[in-house]
Amino acid sequence: MKEALQEAFKLKFHQEPTVLVQAPTRINIIGEHTDYNDGWVMPAAIDKYIYFALVKLDKPLVFIYDENKDEQFYFAYEDDFSWEGLAQWRQYYYGAIYLLKKEYNLGGFKAYKIGTAPVGAGISSSAALCCGFIFAISELFDLKLDRWTIAKLAQRVEQEYVGLQCGIMDQFAVLFGEENHILRLNCFNLAYTKHPVKLEEFQFILCNSMVKHNLADSAYNERVDEMKQIKKSLHLKDFSQWENLDANQLKSPLKNRLRHLVSANRRVQRMQEAFDRNDAHQVGQLLNESHTSLQKDYAVTCEETDYLVNSLNTNGALGSRQMGGGFGGCILALIPNKKLNDLKSTVSLLYQERFHREPEFYSITLSNGVKRI
Ligand code: GLA
Repeated sequence: MKEALQEAFKLKFHQEPTVLVQAPTRINIIGEHTDYNDGWVMPAAIDKYIYFALVKLDKPLVFIYDENKDEQFYFAYEDDFSWEGLAQWRQYYYGAIYLLKKEYNLGGFKAYKIGTAPVGAGISSSAALCCGFIFAISELFDLKLDRWTIAKLAQRVEQEYVGLQCGIMDQFAVLFGEENHILRLNCFNLAYTKHPVKLEEFQFILCNSMVKHNLADSAYNERVDEMKQIKKSLHLKDFSQWENLDANQLKSPLKNRLRHLVSANRRVQRMQEAFDRNDAHQVGQLLNESHTSLQKDYAVTCEETDYLVNSLNTNGALGSRQMGGGFGGCILALIPNKKLNDLKSTVSLLYQERFHREPEFYSITLSNGVKRI
């Protein structure tokens, strides 16, 4: 990809780029909607990437070309911007630049972006874009931003400019991923560990429902608010003592939301034990429990993803669940290698018959975090 990116940049801008960056997307094995609730998550970076090529400009101008959209835009730093009505994909770039500009001395630059990652599929192409872009700017102007600083800036772009009150999991995974390893993060104190995964005759795959979510417009922020209400009514500063909480002191739907948080945090611990024992069946079982909890207690699934989970499981998966923010996107499934091809064709046919759209399947490799190439 390095050569293709260099070539594309040269063709567009008639000069050589000086910084080339690869940013991975992520999966999350277990622990969903726990990150903004001081809980546990178990993500990993994967080999579906977003790439940036950059070069400095000697004028205070920014010029960005997004190859996937075949759209470009430019602006001068002294321009006065209105955020109203700005397309969401531009908000990521503007947000990142404006947050950086407040604290660091940025010059002008040209940037070229290509992505091989599906967008709106629940694998956080937005965190890959934002973290990759900030990392690339930091390299270009030698800002020496450390990875946590980049992660928190990228999270602020989502929260303050795009309008999604997200947690830190996606940015963390994109920046701290390691080849063939999953990560386990305590989102309360940001302590994390890395673990190799060996499942031999099984593999994780993604199945894209092709239902695109725009989390900023979905019930994601409603869930964030509900969790704040829970803290208020239980007089809690945070959820770090989740093990001692009893959801039954609340009424539905808050009772269900808290029940999800407690069971989801436990599942992260149980998943770790299952990996330690190389117990693929228990891994599958935990994926299924997670989906049920997301469906019944946290209420963030949809008809299509519920259908796919069921269909994958009845056709040979050891377990599966909707992954990411919800309301569509990808299913993460654990599949016996020898059943993979049959399973894909059967599930694809059934899904098309029912919903008149074709699901996509992706094989995945666990990858390194954002880096220069
Ligand atoms: C989105 C958010 C994350 C996290 C997940 C759900 O991906 O960006 O912070 O909350 O949803 O686990």
